[in-house]
Amino acid sequence: MKIEIIQFDNNHLNDIRAINASVSSNPNKPYAEKVLSQHLYIDYYTEFSKENCFVARNTENDEIAGYIIAEVDFNRFKHHMLTYYLPQAKAIRTDFEQKIKDEVAAYAPFINQYDAHLHMDVKPGYQHQGIGTMMLQHLFSHLKKRGCKGVMLSVSKKNIRANSFYEKNGMSIIGENGNNLRGINL
Ligand SMILES: CC(C)(COP(=O)(O)OP(=O)(O)OC[C@H]1O[C@@H](n2cnc3c(N)ncnc32)[C@H](O)[C@@H]1OP(=O)(O)O)[C@@H](O)C(=O)NCCC(=O)NCCS
Repeated sequence: MKIEIIQFDNNHLNDIRAINASVSSNPNKPYAEKVLSQHLYIDYYTEFSKENCFVARNTENDEIAGYIIAEVDFNRFKHHMLTYYLPQAKAIRTDFEQKIKDEVAAYAPFINQYDAHLHMDVKPGYQHQGIGTMMLQHLFSHLKKRGCKGVMLSVSKKNIRANSFYEKNGMSIIGENGNNLRGINL
């Protein structure tokens, strides 16, 4: 298998939404939560921060095996999340309002040292073969070139595999808000 990391374009959107839904820890997650999860973890980035989004492509069958998406401008993220996404999320289910506020608030104390943040997933069947590491290293070098100081993420404490993956890739715990906030200086 040969994997290449390429820049995201709009043709990849359905693939990465499908990967996001397929790695959910709860396969019976209600539809509304899947929509919110895609707003929070995908749609914002592919719309407003496209230049910081990448996919892993299997060159043998053209399949998208994973994605990594990031934002380098926290104020833009905060503004758009609270202005555009929050009302949409609230219309889907009222308690989603707090989820979005919590997501934004979680990063806020760390933005001076870790100006970028990321989300990523590898498709089942492609996991544990080095693709996540390839994508993460690709993003680190991209962000470094852009002058970012550091990058952080939020990961569920229950996600043992992901926590060990990030730890191995130098992303150590920088804070907690129910989830682990992890970061690395670039
Ligand atoms: C976490 C994730 C991004 C890692 O990417 P990956 O391509 O699978 O990881 P790599 O092959 O580059 O790195 C391997 C390391 O990741 C962890 N890991 C990944 N998959 C694993 C598995 N199936 N079993 C055990 N450990 C695993 C281990 O620490 C492993 O190190 P090891 O080989 O020394 O045991 C990917 O497995 C994934 O998307 N998982 C499901 C969704 C998820 O948790 N997303 C992250 C949300 S924050």
